[in-house]
Amino acid sequence: MRLLIINGPNLNMLGIREAEVYGNISYEELSKFIYEFANLNGVEVKIFHSNIEGEIINEIHNSFGKFDGIIINPGAYTHYSYAIHDAIKSVNIPTIEVHLSNIYSREEYRRKSVIAPSCVGQITGLGKYSYILAIAYFTKGE
Ligand code: DQA
Repeated sequence: MRLLIINGPNLNMLGIREAEVYGNISYEELSKFIYEFANLNGVEVKIFHSNIEGEIINEIHNSFGKFDGIIINPGAYTHYSYAIHDAIKSVNIPTIEVHLSNIYSREEYRRKSVIAPSCVGQITGLGKYSYILAIAYFTKGE
């Protein structure tokens, strides 16, 4: 099982940005937590970060045929990137959208995801466990 985890804009600032919303965990700590859970469960993960929409789209295109699933936190692109939505549709890889914060309990403009319709599901508001639950989904038996 190979999973690609994509983190979008500003997630590299975790631990510094808006600690009251995102907590104190740094991006490195989040990545380590994800790698450790994946290793324990025999899952190979690649974690990719970019602040740039086109780079995220290129990474999704390059994942074609190489990964069994994608877990994406598109950051603010969640709310307006039809291009990322279309990229996910293009590669035919089951994708889960994740968020650290609960996007439905925040500002009005965050309550809509234009990415979600291209995904098998969405996990929001569970902090670092949003990623863990998404990995658990992909490792499920029948
Ligand atoms: C976020 C929620 C987005 O609305 C925001 O723009 C982010 C982080 C989250 O993980 O809670 O950058 O995706």
